[in-house]
Amino acid sequence: MYNMLPVCFHLLLYLLVEISLYEALLQSPKILFSASYATYLTGEMVSLECHVSADFTIHGYKFFKNNQEVQRTEAPTVNKYKIRMVKTSDAGSYTCLYWISDSRGRQESEVSFPVSFSVIDQPSTPSLIVKPLQSLYFEGETVTLECKHPNINSQITYQFYKDASKLHRYHDTSMPEYHISNLSTKDSATYDCEYVVLGHQRIIPSGKSMQQTITVTALSSSPLLKFLPSYSTFINGENLTMECEAPSPVHVTLYRFYKEGEELKGPLSHKGIYTLQNVTKNNQAEYTCMYWSPKINREIPSAQSPAKEIYVIDPLRAPLLLVDPPSGRIWTGGNVTLYCTAPEVYDRTIFHFLSNTNEMISVPTNKNQKTAEVTVNMKKFNSTSSIKFFCQYTAEIKGRSLLSPKGPQIEINVVERGSLLWLIAIGVGAGIAVLLVIIGLIYWILSGKKDSKTDKEEPKPVNDGGCKVTSL
Ligand SMILES: *[C@@H]1O[C@H](CO)[C@@H](O)[C@H](O)[C@H]1NC(C)=O
Ligand SMILES: *[C@@H]1O[C@H](CO)[C@@H](O)[C@H](O)[C@H]1NC(C)=O
Ligand SMILES: *[C@@H]1O[C@H](CO)[C@@H](O)[C@H](O)[C@H]1NC(C)=O
Ligand SMILES: *[C@@H]1O[C@H](CO)[C@@H](O)[C@H](O)[C@H]1NC(C)=O
Ligand SMILES: *[C@@H]1O[C@H](CO)[C@@H](O)[C@H](O)[C@H]1NC(C)=O
Repeated sequence: MYNMLPVCFHLLLYLLVEISLYEALLQSPKILFSASYATYLTGEMVSLECHVSADFTIHGYKFFKNNQEVQRTEAPTVNKYKIRMVKTSDAGSYTCLYWISDSRGRQESEVSFPVSFSVIDQPSTPSLIVKPLQSLYFEGETVTLECKHPNINSQITYQFYKDASKLHRYHDTSMPEYHISNLSTKDSATYDCEYVVLGHQRIIPSGKSMQQTITVTALSSSPLLKFLPSYSTFINGENLTMECEAPSPVHVTLYRFYKEGEELKGPLSHKGIYTLQNVTKNNQAEYTCMYWSPKINREIPSAQSPAKEIYVIDPLRAPLLLVDPPSGRIWTGGNVTLYCTAPEVYDRTIFHFLSNTNEMISVPTNKNQKTAEVTVNMKKFNSTSSIKFFCQYTAEIKGRSLLSPKGPQIEINVVERGSLLWLIAIGVGAGIAVLLVIIGLIYWILSGKKDSKTDKEEPKPVNDGGCKVTSL
């Protein structure tokens, strides 16, 4: 460090001497661009300025390109050099100097540090490509706008315009594509695009492309999907026809049916008719349909029909019938209670109790009720007889009423109280008679030839009291 000191001292001394020498010379000027950038487009004007901060009169300026003085149209006292309609060949290294005239004659300054600029061609106007190109678009379609131009070796951003106002893009603006998915009628407009070349301390716009018009049409109004028969609950093995019905004034060229969004193909599906034969659980799904109608060279689809669901059920099973008393024997005038139980719970069930005498009692039930009961008074059945009872039910399943098969029948034997007593009386009488005969025989055998007697008793009929119908 200490041994460096003399070196520093010498350097300082040298500099002081130099500066005092330079004071005699003229300070070198600076050359600058009037604009704040150094890249120009072919045909633009480049303006160079020779700057010097001096308080003395400057008598003239000289400009040099690649160390050769340029001929300029400006007066020599003007510190500007303007290149009108710049060409690529104008690019180069530029310097300037100034001079003053005094008693010693003309004195020229040092030459400035050089500056240079580059000349590029005006970026070519892009073309806006619409993919796919259609005379008419319909709602829900996707369209891509592409701003196309010859390749440029610079950073570029793209701007798309809709009816001359800028479209905002949230993704990368360096992508030359603009997507419009799910077109709506609001997207109908004229579009154009432009790109901007960056990276030259200035923005170089390409100029706007030719306009492209996009016309979006609303979808046709939705059709109606109908079932024939009109209910939506079907029993395994049944047939069903679907019909797609377009609003009447529309000219329809094609119909399509969909099951959970997947197209169904049938011999008449394009005509709006689709038949399901022998339905199974696999057919249980949501169905929709659509139609196409022509409009300016395009087939415009309709909106989807409201979805309709098909329910497929197994055939109804027979109900279970129970009776109280369980023996199935009842006196005339007695009460019999019948219980009918459906195997499943339905939205609504109506139980029907039937007898072989064509009596029928229907019992509606509340939601989720599986069993109904009915009490029948046996007064009507006045002789020894058997009455058969059975039951069935009507189930309401998603709007369709279905009648179940009949359950197994139950036989009720009505026994008349009177006739039974009469039978007992006859039985008892006959028994006594037989006993007396035996006794008589024994007595006769024991006593030889003696007379014998037999007796007979007559039964008493017993009348039952009045009967009442007590139930239903
Ligand atoms: C498409 O747009 C319509 C309304 O403009 C809207 O109801 C629908 O949900 C959109 N569909 C999709 C897939 O974004
Ligand atoms: C369903 O249609 C087929 C063919 O038309 C027919 O043979 C069948 O009997 C139909 N089934 C029912 C349950 O109607
Ligand atoms: C209906 O389908 C069932 C089961 O898939 C099958 O056993 C039956 O033979 C079919 N009947 C007709 C008429 O196709
Ligand atoms: C039958 O039931 C009714 C009420 O439901 C009752 O009034 C009547 O006494 C009963 N008859 C017999 C014989 O139990
Ligand atoms: C039973 O009642 C019916 C009327 O309900 C009557 O015509 C018939 O004669 C009666 N029979 C007996 C055996 O009482």
